[in-house]
This record gives sequence, structure tokens and C-alpha cells, in this order.
Amino acid sequence: MAGGNRRVPSNNETHWDGRYASNAGAGLSWSEGPGSLSLEWIIEVGPKGSSIVDIGAGRSMLLPALLSREYTDLTHVDWSESASQSLQRSLGCEAPRIKCIVGDL
Ligand SMILES: C[S@@+](CC[C@H](N)C(=O)[O-])C[C@H]1O[C@@H](n2cnc3c(N)ncnc32)[C@H](O)[C@@H]1O
Repeated sequence: MAGGNRRVPSNNETHWDGRYASNAGAGLSWSEGPGSLSLEWIIEVGPKGSSIVDIGAGRSMLLPALLSREYTDLTHVDWSESASQSLQRSLGCEAPRIKCIVGDL
């Protein structure tokens, strides 16, 4: 298709950081709730010692929900520093139990 008017949705670190920063504390419509299908499937097939990495995890409650069910090897990956910090704040003293990696996958 010729022409320069095609709009591509923005998908970069700055875009996502802005989304999280401007919606601080609020749920975002695409966030996984604590009772998600992903959670059900992981519990069904994954023993508690499984290595679980949530890529593009944002502020999803998936990893905190697994932590509360005694999963021990959990990793959060997202390129938004704001999302990573927000998750760690919400975990309080439990924060060191989830490894957090900020970077572009
Ligand atoms: C639609 S949100 C979903 C967030 C989360 N999985 C949830 O269900 O609430 C997409 C997430 O992927 C992250 N993301 C997108 N591209 C990425 C990349 N190349 N590297 C790391 N994170 C990325 C964004 O920062 C954002 O947090």
C-alpha cells in the first residue's frame, strides 16, 4: 500500500511508561485479574518449583497471585521501569521474592 498516512500504534518503552505513570494505582483494562485463566492453567500443570517468567508483565496480578500460592521461582520482565516499580511497591516486603528485569525483550 503506497502512501505515508498509515498509523502504526506506538509500542515502545516511552509509550508504556507513560501509560503506567498516568494511570498510577488504577487497574488498566488489559490487566490480568487475580482469577485469570493463565493462573488456572499454571496451577493445573506447573509444580510450585517451576521457573515462571511473565514477559511484558506490566502490573498484572499473575505473579503476585502465584507468589501467594507458594510458587518460588518467579520473574517479571517488562521494559517499563514504571510498571516494574509499581509491582514492587504493591508487593511491599514480599518484593524480593519476585525477580524483576527491566529491558526490551
Ligand atoms: C498490553 S500490556 C499487558 C501487561 C500485562 N501482561 C497484563 O496482562 O496486565 C503489554 C506489556 O508489555 C510490555 N512490553 C511490550 N513490548 C515489550 C518489549 N519489547 N520488551 C519488554 N516489555 C514489553 C509493555 O510495557 C506492557 O507492560
